[in-house]
Amino acid sequence: MYERKEITPAQLEEQRGYCERIRDRLADRPHLALVETYGCQQNESDSEILRGWLMDCGYGLTDDPGQADLIAVNTCAVREHAELRVFGNVGALNHRKAKNPDLIVAVGGCMVQQAVVQERLRKSFPVVDLAFGPHELWRFPELLWRTMERREHRNRKSQRRLIAAQPSDGVVAEGLPRQRDGGIKAWLSIMNGCDNFCTYCIVPHVRGRERSRRPEDVLAEARSLAAAGYKDITLLGQNVNSYGKGLGGDVDFPELLRRIGDIPGDFVLRFMTSHPKDATEKLFRAMAETEKCAHHIHLPVQSGSSRVLRAMNRHYDREKYLDTVAMARSILPDLVLTTDIIVGFPGETEAEFEETLSLVEQVRYDAMFTFIYSPRTGTPAAALPDPVSRAEKQVWFDRLLESANRISAEKHAEYVGKTCRVLVDGVTNDPARNLSARTKGGRLVHLAGDPALVGQFTDAEITDSSTWALFGKAV
Ligand code: SAH
Ligand code: SF4
Ligand code: F3S
Repeated sequence: MYERKEITPAQLEEQRGYCERIRDRLADRPHLALVETYGCQQNESDSEILRGWLMDCGYGLTDDPGQADLIAVNTCAVREHAELRVFGNVGALNHRKAKNPDLIVAVGGCMVQQAVVQERLRKSFPVVDLAFGPHELWRFPELLWRTMERREHRNRKSQRRLIAAQPSDGVVAEGLPRQRDGGIKAWLSIMNGCDNFCTYCIVPHVRGRERSRRPEDVLAEARSLAAAGYKDITLLGQNVNSYGKGLGGDVDFPELLRRIGDIPGDFVLRFMTSHPKDATEKLFRAMAETEKCAHHIHLPVQSGSSRVLRAMNRHYDREKYLDTVAMARSILPDLVLTTDIIVGFPGETEAEFEETLSLVEQVRYDAMFTFIYSPRTGTPAAALPDPVSRAEKQVWFDRLLESANRISAEKHAEYVGKTCRVLVDGVTNDPARNLSARTKGGRLVHLAGDPALVGQFTDAEITDSSTWALFGKAV
């Protein structure tokens, strides 16, 4: 049973004290920091906190590694590919450190929470001065201070570095600083961790137990985002549908959605991710009745085979998933539906893979994120026999991708000739379609229009489409 651990105001104050000390230390000249982020939106959100801490410690921010006095890498452990990229890029920092021995290299995030990774960093990555797991983010200033002290006062090289990633179920920390990018779109983390233990997934092992922020804290943050003029707010959690469990109150996720939707302001409300096992009619009704809520749901199916879903510990089968989709579409006829799929789970047969393909053809997703299964040390699936070769999985994967792309292109073609309300979120390099925008359902639109529209809602006439995007002009 998870016992809620909240960071106290006194603990936070102590961290602010470390910020002061670091500021004093850096006062001789301007110092710059760069934060590089891998992985999901939760990690993007954590990087905002990291940037907030760094700024409170007296650093300015830069995108240029050549200028940086500190480089922090916020890592993802979800698939091997992500980990290999991190190891490659961190290894490459050796060159930078050779040029600038004062450079501080910090590695944080989900990878660091794994003992195997800590070992590898210790043995093979002397370039790393500080490694810290996701549960240590709230005390980053203290860790940075101690890293600085060690670099100065310890003689033995091995003692100069700090690896902080104790096993932990996780904490809830309010009041941390946060440096958000831009002023248009904002992440709003409503919970942390995951208790679902899908058999392939490392997330519950590195992110700790599921814990929700209190509704009053979430609502206060949402109000301040709306007041600051944010136009697009995405609520984040590994499974937002179980928001509120363990808080003992009466605010569940549908209720939270309604309350945030009642906050005055002109913004679109989104959320990620919903586990299909508890996506209910109550949720879809709240979406339909909350005017600001995007009619989009990311509902990761993972597989179309009930046997594989059972082996994945997903707590639904093919029929129940299809029923959920049908119910959602009956309540929200214009629903944009996206998903994640894993190809080649250990023991998956070709016939089972074909069930995934047929489910995709039946559901017709607007967009899909497809992955080849990647074994994660310590997860139950990694211990299962996995007889299908990588080459064969790749063939299945390519078939799935072909199907996904064809359906996305067909779905996008249905927009042509229509006029949609979009939020313009940036400029592009294409002079013919100089703006990028999103429909309320989250589809990407390349638009011709006045750059003054950035940060505003506008109507867009859709004139063309592709697999990946819609094209049009502001009207
Ligand atoms: N909490 C979210 C998913 C987080 S991970 C949810 O449950 O929907 C994002 C996606 O990565 C998952 O949906 C899954 O499709 C994929 N994934 C997770 N572990 C994986 C693994 N070991 N190999 C391949 N893909 C994986
Ligand atoms: Fe991983 Fe499953 Fe939790 Fe998603 S719900 S983070 S896939 S364990
Ligand atoms: Fe990756 Fe951690 Fe997110 S493992 S997907 S960054 S929760």
